[in-house]
Amino acid sequence: LAASLGACASATSLPAPPGAEPPPSLKEAFGRLMPFGSAVTPEQLRGPEAAFIARHFNVLVAENVMKPEFLAPKQEGQYEFGPADELVNFALARGMKVRGHTLLWHRQMPAWFFKEGNAVVSRAMLIARVERYIADVVGHFKGRVYAWDVVNEAVTVDEPDAQADANGLRIAEFYKIIGPEYIDIAFRAAAKADPDALLFYNDYETQNPKKVALVSRLVSGLKARGVKIDGIGHQAHCSAGHPGVADFERAIDAYARLGVTQHVTELDIALNHNLMDTTVTAATPELLARQARRYGELVSLFLRKRAQVTALLVWGIGDSYTWLTSWPVKRFEAPLLFDTA
Ligand code: XIL
Repeated sequence: LAASLGACASATSLPAPPGAEPPPSLKEAFGRLMPFGSAVTPEQLRGPEAAFIARHFNVLVAENVMKPEFLAPKQEGQYEFGPADELVNFALARGMKVRGHTLLWHRQMPAWFFKEGNAVVSRAMLIARVERYIADVVGHFKGRVYAWDVVNEAVTVDEPDAQADANGLRIAEFYKIIGPEYIDIAFRAAAKADPDALLFYNDYETQNPKKVALVSRLVSGLKARGVKIDGIGHQAHCSAGHPGVADFERAIDAYARLGVTQHVTELDIALNHNLMDTTVTAATPELLARQARRYGELVSLFLRKRAQVTALLVWGIGDSYTWLTSWPVKRFEAPLLFDTA
């Protein structure tokens, strides 16, 4: 099954021989073993892609519309739940699960969140805002979103232009104004708003040994203080040369010892060697074959570890929708399982 999932990366990118079978439903093949999903947009659910999405996935996550700048773009207490509700309703009507992404992040926050008049918001006011935002949003989706990324990318290592404290916690607005306690505050608020939702800390490069140490420290700290945290999300933005499967395996084992579950939340495998590399300008059969092998190796690992890894989501339904053609630089990319829907 892992091989069939991996094979799709090349199979759907090469001209199909006449009379060839369409690729199997990934939901039926792989999604029986663990929830298998994708990031989607509401536009895709309204368009011709809808049937494709329903055929292949049994868990959905919003690529953008559940982020704070979309849910509360204008001011405190004023929500625009429409597009996110549409996504959740689409999923639930088809027996799919929904992951919520993301409550707090240092990106894609609306400007009002950190302001009080023209000044920087006070600590007390920001704590109240975080608590209110999470109560409202998690409350709104209570019983419909089964897992939340409560805090995204709070730990940073070796990131140019980012500052970190001695525990590797990113020194961005929430940290600067509230202090490291903002993470406890967010998890406690989420647990209160939906005691049954699984609460995740989500990050990229979670397999990097330095990050394993820092994320483990963060998670054990939360647990020691009696804060509910259920899982660690591996974004798993991979590329042709990075990361090594062995690093990933060591990381999964290390996090397992913390007594939390793990989801692979945003898998894609760039054809370029790393995120800044722009040398690939076309999806050659060789590059696609190498990518298919990488998908096969990584997904086999996740399957082997399925006592620990309990969901797998890719970050987009097809190459024509990937964020990696515009981030961090404009370039050609084809990192997903299908060319297009
Ligand atoms: C990305 C989306 O794919 C883009 O459309 C958006 O412009 C920026 O965010 N880590 C995350 C995701 O947790 O939310 C990011 O999604 C990709 C990196």
